[in-house]
Amino acid sequence: MKIINTPREMRALSQEWRCAGESIGFVPTMGALHEGHLSLAQAARRECNKFVASIFVNPTQFGPDEDFAEYARPFERDCALLEEVGCDAVFAPAPQDIYGAGGSTASLGARAFVEVGGLSELWEGATRPGHLRGVATVVAILFNVVRPTRAYFGEKDFQQLKVVEQMVHDLHFDLQIVPCETVRDADGLAMSSRNARLSPAERQAALLLSRALRAGVEMAHSGECDTTKLGAAMQAVCSEHPAVEVQYIAVVDAQTLATLPALDGRPARTLIAARVGSVRLIDNVPLN
Ligand code: PAJ
Repeated sequence: MKIINTPREMRALSQEWRCAGESIGFVPTMGALHEGHLSLAQAARRECNKFVASIFVNPTQFGPDEDFAEYARPFERDCALLEEVGCDAVFAPAPQDIYGAGGSTASLGARAFVEVGGLSELWEGATRPGHLRGVATVVAILFNVVRPTRAYFGEKDFQQLKVVEQMVHDLHFDLQIVPCETVRDADGLAMSSRNARLSPAERQAALLLSRALRAGVEMAHSGECDTTKLGAAMQAVCSEHPAVEVQYIAVVDAQTLATLPALDGRPARTLIAARVGSVRLIDNVPLN
């Protein structure tokens, strides 16, 4: 497995593969890998001749008060896990390789960025201003450097997946986005690099997120179509523990992510975001 640090080398390797007619699977990550990331890696390995993963904690998608500095960076361990899956190359650039010296802040004036209008302003975009712009921009840069045939994204970050799909469609990127189902711990908690920062008591409280989502699904399956009632029931589950501070619970159209007043047969999704102690968690499930 090659470890590549510069865009120039990554571009050259990808060019060589494409000239040889190889398909390239790509899994962008911020490292601190867990089973969720590895399920994407396994799909890329299965479906493509060559498989590249990137490890890059992207500064432009973190707000000034967020956990960029504390974000875990167990690089050696991540590389060992990727090697086990059969990864061909890890692309691990430094911020200056991606944004130029001193250019990692989104506030710099002379800088191009990618904004997926509408979608980026809802939910995560409203609670984390600039976050999805940082994501779309870095994903566009990574796509231009790695030039994959297929790129794999987790449904765990459902809005991110939709933003990337919209960007690829609107800007005519020549690749296929492959969505992958959320991987959960046995007790239902969606796997996340941030779970490691939960104390044992907080981890227990965090289970209320997936429990609330399941309660919503059960109500919908037994015929409840009023999304206000579904939302209230899910909120009530989260209120069982004072450490869970809900930021939003929303029943949305699975394509546009606009709030649905009632379930009407269209594909719907429930999104949830909450703070548990000092850790911010998100999760979502399909409703039909
Ligand atoms: P990161 O949080 O490291 O996630 C990398 C990929 O793994 C994303 O596509 C994410 O949705 C997926 N993933 C995370 N947890 C998952 C789980 N429990 N089940 C299935 N997939 C899961 O998302 C990012 O990094 C960044 O925003 C990135 C796209 C790399 C841009 O910087």
